[in-house]
Amino acid sequence: MAFQLPAELTQQPTPFYYYDLQLLDQTLAALTAAARPGNFQVHYALKANSNLPILQRIQQAGFGADCVSGGEVQRALDAGFSPDHVVFAGVGKSDAEINRALAADIFCFNAESVPELQVLNELAGAQGRTARVALRINPNVDAHTHAYITTGLDANKFGINLADLAGVVEGLDNLPNVELIGLHAHIGSQITELSAFANLSRKLNELQTWLEDRGHRLPHLNVGGGLGIDYHQPDQNPIPDFAAYFGMFEQHLQRRPGQQVHVELGRAVVAQCGTLVSRVLYVKESQQTRFAILDAGMTELIRPALYGSYHLIQNLTSQRPELTYDIVGPICESSDTFGKAITLPETQRGDLVAIRSAGAYGEVMSSAYNLREKAEAVYR
Ligand code: LLP
Repeated sequence: MAFQLPAELTQQPTPFYYYDLQLLDQTLAALTAAARPGNFQVHYALKANSNLPILQRIQQAGFGADCVSGGEVQRALDAGFSPDHVVFAGVGKSDAEINRALAADIFCFNAESVPELQVLNELAGAQGRTARVALRINPNVDAHTHAYITTGLDANKFGINLADLAGVVEGLDNLPNVELIGLHAHIGSQITELSAFANLSRKLNELQTWLEDRGHRLPHLNVGGGLGIDYHQPDQNPIPDFAAYFGMFEQHLQRRPGQQVHVELGRAVVAQCGTLVSRVLYVKESQQTRFAILDAGMTELIRPALYGSYHLIQNLTSQRPELTYDIVGPICESSDTFGKAITLPETQRGDLVAIRSAGAYGEVMSSAYNLREKAEAVYR
């Protein structure tokens, strides 16, 4: 179905983020249905979008929370997630953040290095607690995605390299306040070649056997997030193929009896329900290029400027014959460009423009650069 902005929102001051809660609910229902047969536990990755109304719906749908900062842990608790469904990941957790998460008695820390394990042990001991920990390993599996959002290769800063794992596991004997409950891996984001998840599964199978040979039985495996979405055809594919995604793990991951498998999806849950709505301020014809200058810019949605990401851009007002535009924002940076040589119906000052699939890593990555005011979020 073609995208439609609710009629009353055509009067809303621009730019703003519009969230389609009905699509979010449908996405959550599809995710629930796909996760149920294999009893996969879904922890939603807050980093993709941490707006309370969205989190509350995700929590009510029965999912847990994957957090990467003290702020996100707090937000998850505020949104009603129970601490035993909260996971805290991240390569640089501060002592204050760890202390707060320990005090809240969250389910698990995904630990990424030996020094971090030592700090977890020390701080947990001081609170008279045990920190439940999954070791984040760097599986060296190529996710075939953008270099900036690939995380599971040896060259990335994330996780424990496989070569170091033996030493890390031996060291656990000296960390009495740390309890190893699982393995964690995340290979990257916006992954559309599902075979990457089969490769990850095979790597985890090997590691699991290796750990069992050393006497470590793991009640939990966390395979991370990363399932991609269709940025080119959001109306044709509003909901990702969750069944195919879980099918990869059903087929390739050797799960032990009673073992829980966790996933941490972010983008796939919230990207398609969010749209950045903007107005055309000016159309400027230069010698080589026709620019449509919007009142939204990289301050509202930085993905095109930062990663060269594609977002579908639609003129919601004009039905005129098509012309070609560079669609740019008002910010004082040349990279403040949403798309080059984009074909749109002839565009005029005042036209409403939708930048689609902006629900994930859109509003959360916005900034106040140029002293811009924060765009409002509206929910329907
Ligand atoms: N788990 C871990 C450990 C992660 O690092 C991430 C994302 C996720 C889960 C969720 O991944 P997702 O299901 O959303 O792919 N700002 C970039 C994406 C950065 C992703 C960072 N990590 C973008 O706009 O494309």
